[in-house]
Amino acid sequence: MAKLISRPAVKTPEAVRPRRLRSSPALRALVRETRLHPAQLIAPLFVIGGRGRRHEIASLKGHHRLTPDLALQKAHELAELGVGGVLLFGIPDSKDAVGSGADDRRGPVPETLRLLRREGLPIALAADVCLCEYTSHGHCGVLNGEKVDNDASLPRLGAAGIAYAEAGADIVGPSAMMDGQVAAVRSGLDGEGFIDTAIMAYASKHASTFYGPFRDAAGSTPSFGDRKSYQMDPANAHEALREMQLDADEGADILMVKPGLTSLDLLARARDRFDLPLAAYQVSGEAAMIEAAAEHGWIDRRGAILESITAIVRAGAGIVITYFAEDVASWLHEAR
Ligand code: PBG
Repeated sequence: MAKLISRPAVKTPEAVRPRRLRSSPALRALVRETRLHPAQLIAPLFVIGGRGRRHEIASLKGHHRLTPDLALQKAHELAELGVGGVLLFGIPDSKDAVGSGADDRRGPVPETLRLLRREGLPIALAADVCLCEYTSHGHCGVLNGEKVDNDASLPRLGAAGIAYAEAGADIVGPSAMMDGQVAAVRSGLDGEGFIDTAIMAYASKHASTFYGPFRDAAGSTPSFGDRKSYQMDPANAHEALREMQLDADEGADILMVKPGLTSLDLLARARDRFDLPLAAYQVSGEAAMIEAAAEHGWIDRRGAILESITAIVRAGAGIVITYFAEDVASWLHEAR
C-alpha cells in the first residue's frame, strides 16, 4: 500500500528537496554563493592634527578621531588583517566659508597620507573629497547667499583631490554631490600629472538620515537647511542610475552607492548595467543601529554585521566601506 505522504500536494515534485544542500555545514559552505574577503573591505578613518591624541567618537562605537601617527598604527593593524583599504576623513582645527582646510597640504588628511605612503603598507589609500568637514556652515560646497553654488564648488573639490593625490592617495572619493564633480576632479588630477590616481565616485548618494552619527564624528552637520538640494531623494532609483552613468562618463574608476542596506536594488541594477567596480558604503547610521540593538541584547552583533555586509555583496557590491572592517577581517581569519 502506498505510504501517505506528509507533504501537501503542491506542484513541487517530491524529488525536489532544496533542504538536501542545507543539511551540514560542509554542504552549506560548498553551495554558498557569496563569500566575504578582507581584501574587499575599506575602513573609514577620521583624522585630526597633532600627535598622540585620540578622541572617542560617541556615536561610532569603537572608533576614534586619530592623529596621523595613531592613524598609521591603526592602518598597520588593518593591513595585518588583510583589509583592502582605508578611507580618510579629515577634521580640521578651524573652518571657514570656502573650506580652505580641504586642500591644506598641512591638514590632517595629507599628513596622514604622507605617513602611510612612506610606510609602504599593502593597503589602498583613499581620501574622501568634500567640503562639509571644512566649511563653517557645514555644507558640501561653497555658498552663494543661502544656496550651495555648484560651479563655484568644483575648483575647490578639484584642489582637494590634487592635494590628496600629491600626498600619496591611490584613490580620491568625491562625495559632495555637485554636478560635474568627477570631471572636475579628473581634469584637476590630470592637469597636475596625477593620471594614475583613481576616482571612486560617490555616484548614488541619497540625502539620508543614516549619516547622522558621521556628522557627529566629523562635526559636519549643516548649520542651516539640509543637503536635499544636492544629495538625492531616497525615493529615486532611476535618478540614481543616471547619476552613476554620468559619473562613469566623467571618468569614475569605481562607482559607489550609499547607504548600503537601503540601496540593494541599485546595486543589483548597477551590477547588470555597468562594468566598473561597484562599491557600497555601509554608513554610520547602519553601524549605529546594529551597535545599539546589540548593546540591548536585541540582536546578535556579529551575526547582524556579517548578514548585512553579505547582503550588500550579494546585491552586487565588490567593495564594502564599513566601520566593521577590522571586526569582519578578524572574524574571517578566525573562521579559516
Ligand atoms: C561627506 C560625507 C558624508 C558621509 C561620507 N562622506 C556625510 C554627509 O554626506 O553628510 C557619510 C558617511 C557615514 O554616514 O558613515 N559629504
